[in-house]
Amino acid sequence: MELNTEKEFSRHFRQQAHWLEEMIASLFREQFSGNARMLEVMQYSLLGGGKRIRPQLVLECGRFFQGSEEDLLLLAMAVEMIHTYSLIHDDLPAMDNDDMRRGKPSSHKRFGEALAILGGDALLTEAFRLPGRLQFQELNRFILEELVDGAGVRGMIAGQVLDLAAEGDNSLTFAHLQTLHRLKTGALINSCLQVGMLSAAASTGQMDEALLKKRKGQIAEYADAIGLLFQITDDILDTTGDEQILGKPIGSDLQNEKTTYVSLLGLSEAKAQAEQEKRRAEQLASDFFTGSQFFKLLPGYILHRSK
Ligand code: IPE
Ligand code: IPE
Ligand code: MG
Ligand code: MG
Ligand code: MG
Repeated sequence: MELNTEKEFSRHFRQQAHWLEEMIASLFREQFSGNARMLEVMQYSLLGGGKRIRPQLVLECGRFFQGSEEDLLLLAMAVEMIHTYSLIHDDLPAMDNDDMRRGKPSSHKRFGEALAILGGDALLTEAFRLPGRLQFQELNRFILEELVDGAGVRGMIAGQVLDLAAEGDNSLTFAHLQTLHRLKTGALINSCLQVGMLSAAASTGQMDEALLKKRKGQIAEYADAIGLLFQITDDILDTTGDEQILGKPIGSDLQNEKTTYVSLLGLSEAKAQAEQEKRRAEQLASDFFTGSQFFKLLPGYILHRSK
């Protein structure tokens, strides 16, 4: 398929999301068993409605480095499970208290708080089975490290703690807000790209330490730009988005007195910052993902997304 314009990119992105949806649904049946009620809670949030950006990052980065499609799919599923757990917990009354997610009632609205908490726990825990099922296992130690770095106390969880602490805090600096966004959203986005690259390295046998280190640094720079861009547009959509399209409530940040790019800088400066991160990401794509139309066009797609 041609991938030259933003429109073509958007079609490719949606088609790939649709295909991933089917793959994740069938892999779920194949890879997981256990308590039937819990499997239902997990699938309710995991399937349907998501954009699947994180699994697409795993796949596209892994393909860029000629990885094994089968192994990339397992890791794509793992990151989507981790991401979905974070959404279930993020929506809980103790956190953002949001009733809609991915166009449906949030997990705690559908199943009650206790099962929603356990559903999140289950998705996070079971996600870590998948690296153990890779065909090429040589770099699993690093893959696990990347997943924990992105999702854990050095990454997303740290960001969520800062996000909650910043509620109602008018004295937050721009630098602090950037750190918060980098941790709560950027860190897992980085992990997606890193595990795609590592899986490809294991399957092609290109495991030279210096080479992996160089790639890791380059990927982290690109991830930083698209991670910030992604969360800035999330903040903007919370004020300007269409609830029907977005599938989650508008105005949640204002209601929770969150500190966001919009609350701190105002809408037009937030848009200017997003534009700046988009240009930075495009430049980094041409430096590090030379020849990849996906990574070149992704920043524009994120900037202009309505969902
Ligand atoms: C929402 O993520 C949470 C953030 C980190 C901003 P997405 O916007 O990727 O949500 P889905 O997966 O498409 O539902
Ligand atoms: C989400 O940030 C960060 C997560 C790690 C889930 P938000 O709280 O802004 O995400 P939405 O807007 O609810 O999707
Ligand atoms: Mg939140
Ligand atoms: Mg939220
Ligand atoms: Mg938000």
